[in-house]
Amino acid sequence: MLDVVGGRLATFLDTLDSMPAARTDGGAKLARSLAEPMPEKGRSLRTLLGVLFERVVPTALHTSGPGYLAYIPGGGLPVSAVADLIAGITNRYVGLWMAAPGLVQIEINVLRWFCTMVGWPDSAGGVLTSGGSIANLIAMVTARRERLPPDFLRGVIYASSHAHHSVRKAAVLAGFPVENVHEIGLDARFRMRTDELASAIAQDRAVGLTPFMVVASAGTTAVGAVDPLPAIAELCAVEGLWMHVDAAYGGFFMLTERGREAMAGIERADSVTLDPHKGLFLPYGTGCILMRDRDTLRRAHHVSTPEAAYLPPAQTDEDRWDFAELGPELSRDARGLRVWLPMKLAGAGTFRLQLDEKLDLARMAAEQVRSHAELELVAEPVLSLLAFRVRDPDPSARGTRTRKLLAGINQRQRVVLTGVPLPGGFVIRVCVLSFRTHEKQILQFGEDLAAALAALDPPAGP
Ligand SMILES: Cc1ncc(COP(=O)(O)O)c(C=O)c1O
Repeated sequence: MLDVVGGRLATFLDTLDSMPAARTDGGAKLARSLAEPMPEKGRSLRTLLGVLFERVVPTALHTSGPGYLAYIPGGGLPVSAVADLIAGITNRYVGLWMAAPGLVQIEINVLRWFCTMVGWPDSAGGVLTSGGSIANLIAMVTARRERLPPDFLRGVIYASSHAHHSVRKAAVLAGFPVENVHEIGLDARFRMRTDELASAIAQDRAVGLTPFMVVASAGTTAVGAVDPLPAIAELCAVEGLWMHVDAAYGGFFMLTERGREAMAGIERADSVTLDPHKGLFLPYGTGCILMRDRDTLRRAHHVSTPEAAYLPPAQTDEDRWDFAELGPELSRDARGLRVWLPMKLAGAGTFRLQLDEKLDLARMAAEQVRSHAELELVAEPVLSLLAFRVRDPDPSARGTRTRKLLAGINQRQRVVLTGVPLPGGFVIRVCVLSFRTHEKQILQFGEDLAAALAALDPPAGP
């Protein structure tokens, strides 16, 4: 069985570079043709693999391809999938330390590496989640349980208007009305305005609300901005607020010198979201929540459960973590292996080089944008994300022409980009974060940008 699957996967990997950057035409027809009732009889693996590899997989955004510069890429390290295969076939249970002490220790190692990267001591901890959204949710619930009474509806959360939408979702899932998330405006570089944050806290206290949490972004999804972490940390310390940093996109740049500089102040946070399926290039399915004080996680998830007498008593040794005590899940996959295997095989130095390369490539892409007088670089790359648009005095034409330019670039199928509406008009984003993206793709971006720009109608005359 593994031979047949291995053969298909090898062909996929060998031809991955030459696949179109996005192939979504016919997607609805394909999806309709696949809808079916539960099959009564089985079919051969070869037939099913044919369906998957010839029809299902190709019709998609090519998220594992080198030209994927849309949303937030990662690529999907094949070796992590091998780790998943080992985890799945051996099927060890890692919810409780006693069930697989070695595998749990491997996952603890991974979490400790991440805590050390943030700058935290051994008393810190965390859990691997399925992604950044769940990590943000765990942070929100933990902050709520640490800082607010059981009747918590007066609690206010602050986040910039560019915070990821999962922050609002997390607030709602944590039981708050969405209005309890107070949006803070941005400075000229799309970072949270701390003067506005300070005024909002004061005003909210004056009307009897209870400010308790600030969510700062270390790399916004829209334009890659890093909020002023030292100033936010200072304000949180003075006001007694929980500081959470959503570093889902930017966090692993801390492995590089430039990333560490950009993220100075993160060590003062109470909690941090990371997303190994972005900055560590893992396949989708691995996020991470870290807490400066591991006990906060334990308290947040603690329920007294005499009815759970079927479970063994929780570990009391500080070095033996029961993940079921630190997060919402009881049964879960052995996620630590996905990070541990590539890290042990390649070493952190390889990841550092890769991430440094992405920082350089984003600057190279920014130069290509700057070389066209008709374009405006709206967001310089702080990390590996930049945003630009067409210059046009007419705001509505600016948006329309920028969207046309985006379609023109994507139509060439070598790179795929996405855009985002901003108050000054729609912008095109370039996010370099796949381990498969190198100079070649950025040169292709430059060529396709120039060609699409040349094909664009000039601005309307006066
Ligand atoms: C800044 C930020 N936070 C949170 C998330 C949500 O992460 P996930 O998609 O892993 O749930 C994203 C996803 O792009 C993100 O960019």
